[in-house]
Amino acid sequence: PEPLKVLGKRKGLNVGNAIGGRHFRDPAYQALMARECNMLVAENEGKWQALEPQPGQYNFGPADEMYAWAKSQGMLIRGHNLIWQEAKWLPKWVNDYDFGAQPAKAAEALLRKHVTTVCDHFGDAIYSYDVVNEAVDQKTGELRKNVFTERLGAVPQMDLAFRLAHERAPKAELVYNDYMGPDAESAKHRAGVLKLLHDLKSRGTPIHALGLQSHIGSSDDLSTAARQREWRKFLDEVTGMGLGLLITEFDVNDRKLPVDIAKRDAGVAALAKDYLDVTLSYRQCRDFLLWGMTDDASWLQVWKEAKREDGAQMRPTPFDDQRRAKPLRD
Ligand code: XIL
Repeated sequence: PEPLKVLGKRKGLNVGNAIGGRHFRDPAYQALMARECNMLVAENEGKWQALEPQPGQYNFGPADEMYAWAKSQGMLIRGHNLIWQEAKWLPKWVNDYDFGAQPAKAAEALLRKHVTTVCDHFGDAIYSYDVVNEAVDQKTGELRKNVFTERLGAVPQMDLAFRLAHERAPKAELVYNDYMGPDAESAKHRAGVLKLLHDLKSRGTPIHALGLQSHIGSSDDLSTAARQREWRKFLDEVTGMGLGLLITEFDVNDRKLPVDIAKRDAGVAALAKDYLDVTLSYRQCRDFLLWGMTDDASWLQVWKEAKREDGAQMRPTPFDDQRRAKPLRD
């Protein structure tokens, strides 16, 4: 079959994948990614925790190695991510940081040092950055709290991160990335994200696009017109603010689909098709990234909230463990 990147090119789409360290060292996986993709994002190696595990001790090596490979393959690179808002994903030392007598100043300085050091290090290599990741609480639609929001305010702290990124990586596309989906349970999440985007736009924050993570599942079924309308309403409002769209972390959670593999794979492919038909119909959405290409490489194999009740292996990606194309691929 024709590689995804060739199919994508015909539609004006970039096709990418999130690669983790273990699979990066697997030549067969590397070859599959090189054949199918023209964009790379590091699954974990570009996160603050990975880049600066201890204060001032930088570990750029693993990300540098991946990005150098991507460059040698002529791939575009997405940086993921500068600030992950949920406290548990920030480095422990950041959560424990002593902000001293002038906490706002110290918080600003810490944020500034992080964003500028990372952007300066990677320079123009990064085509697009997730500047802020997952700032909206999915249950309440409110902004999450962390050491920066407490000292600087939630929106001003994000605004600052975008401004610093824009200053140091002026050519990069700057993205807010989150996992709100079209499902009914995500109504508050979507509303919270829209409010945040409006707030940022009205401050003149240099934000260019919304990253739709797109970890979809059975509740994101867009097979009916009514459901499609809800999702379009959201995407229309985002694009109406002049923002672009990207699909940044696509996979299909099959935990509620039948255990029979043929039925399961058909179900995964159907969910994907309906979701992608609507989402990729937006001319603003020109980047499509998978979060893992083969089932064994998917984070959903280990993510406890994704596990199937029958314990069967998850099948969320376009290729199986033997790198054979599944219905989702087609
Ligand atoms: C996940 C990785 O895939 C896992 O290996 C890691 O343990 C946790 O993070 N949203 C994101 C990604 O923005 O960074 C997450 O990646 C998946 C959900």
